[in-house]
Amino acid sequence: MTTAVLDESQIPTHWYNIVADFPTPPPPPLHPGTREPLVPDDLAAIFPMGLILQEASTERWIEIPAPVRELYRLWRPSPLRRAVRLEEALGTTARIYYKYEGASPVGSHKTNSAVAQAYYNAQAGIKRLATETGAGQWGSALAFACQAFGLACDVWQVRGSYDGKPYRRMLMETYGARVTASPSEVTETGRALRERFPDTSGSLGMAISEAVEVAAGDPDANYSLGSVLNHVLLHQTVIGQEALTQIGMFDEEQVDVLFGCAGGGSNLAGLSFPFIRENLEGRSATRIVACEPKAAPSLTEGEYTYDFGDTAHLTPLLKMYSLGAEFVPDPVHAGGLRYHGMAPLVSHAYHEGLLEAIAIKQREAFAAGVLFANAEGIVPASESNHAIAGALREARRATEAGESPVILIGVSGNGQLDLPAYAEYLSGDMLDS
Ligand SMILES: Cc1ncc(COP(=O)(O)O)c(C=O)c1O
Repeated sequence: MTTAVLDESQIPTHWYNIVADFPTPPPPPLHPGTREPLVPDDLAAIFPMGLILQEASTERWIEIPAPVRELYRLWRPSPLRRAVRLEEALGTTARIYYKYEGASPVGSHKTNSAVAQAYYNAQAGIKRLATETGAGQWGSALAFACQAFGLACDVWQVRGSYDGKPYRRMLMETYGARVTASPSEVTETGRALRERFPDTSGSLGMAISEAVEVAAGDPDANYSLGSVLNHVLLHQTVIGQEALTQIGMFDEEQVDVLFGCAGGGSNLAGLSFPFIRENLEGRSATRIVACEPKAAPSLTEGEYTYDFGDTAHLTPLLKMYSLGAEFVPDPVHAGGLRYHGMAPLVSHAYHEGLLEAIAIKQREAFAAGVLFANAEGIVPASESNHAIAGALREARRATEAGESPVILIGVSGNGQLDLPAYAEYLSGDMLDS
């Protein structure tokens, strides 16, 4: 068997909330003015109450609403495969598996949260969602989800990716979204940022500021975030729940090491939190490894501190590993990993020793992606290449040591629209940032 196929009836019925199981509670978000813990009403100007309650929830299981689960059927359950041909290409003694989220309509895990967020906003009578996008994966996911629930969608796309990834913009527009390059002339924040940083290629922090400003100023509009916040990570836990069942179908006792790429932390959390629960309950001892880009190494080089989620300091203060809200990373190709901070729940897990982190330069990431593409046929997203590179390090180490660990890789998306980055790597021109 190479692929563990689940039936539609095995799509999870609940999202898993790790907050219920953490040995110590994660530090709360703070109001930026008072520095007191946030209360639900502080977020009501930009989020619907359904999501605010999830943000603060300590319940272990939260039921997935039927219309969201119905949409999940378009791409869930997602496949988990044994990477037999990759193992052969490496000549490794390790057993390598990957959970593939790239078969979703827009090509990544981002739809798992996008459809949930659009649903709760539509239920609350909201007409329009504003958001940011780095790689364009989140923007396309939300654009798709918005039209599914009858909402308009405004996307602020980081300038570097807007210019470098025209097909992502076209995809968002095909789903009916309006896309603006960030920083833009449209918002007060955007104009101020352009004055301060005239030649900037933009950042996720800047694009978030613009989208938040627009949402806060329009009672019919809300803001939507593609990563970082607790409710976004929560929605992604369908990935790990399915993966646990699927690994069991291969008769593996446990996954020894799990690798996920980490930008804001949502796909890593989605895959790994159900595995961390197994560890905490004493049923397994899986090592979890966050693979971040060397260009934005928030976990491995950042400080664990209260920081803003955006450049203009419009968001609440979040306790996270951060490089500083002003940090603008090198324009590496993995746009979705170019974020200055790391999700508070992933940061807390890291701080508590429940997961590890490594940083990977983009040439090593793309070398891994090309090897994976040739062996397995799937061209991974630029971001996912970091997880694959982490796994290859472990497979090579294990082979030298004569060990046979079970390795699980989170392949968070496909790279069909990242091909110019592959072309740059293959031509030898890619910077080793
Ligand atoms: C395919 C893919 N993987 C990973 C990420 C990183 O985000 P996160 O760390 O929230 O999963 C992104 C973000 O855009 C993405 O598009």
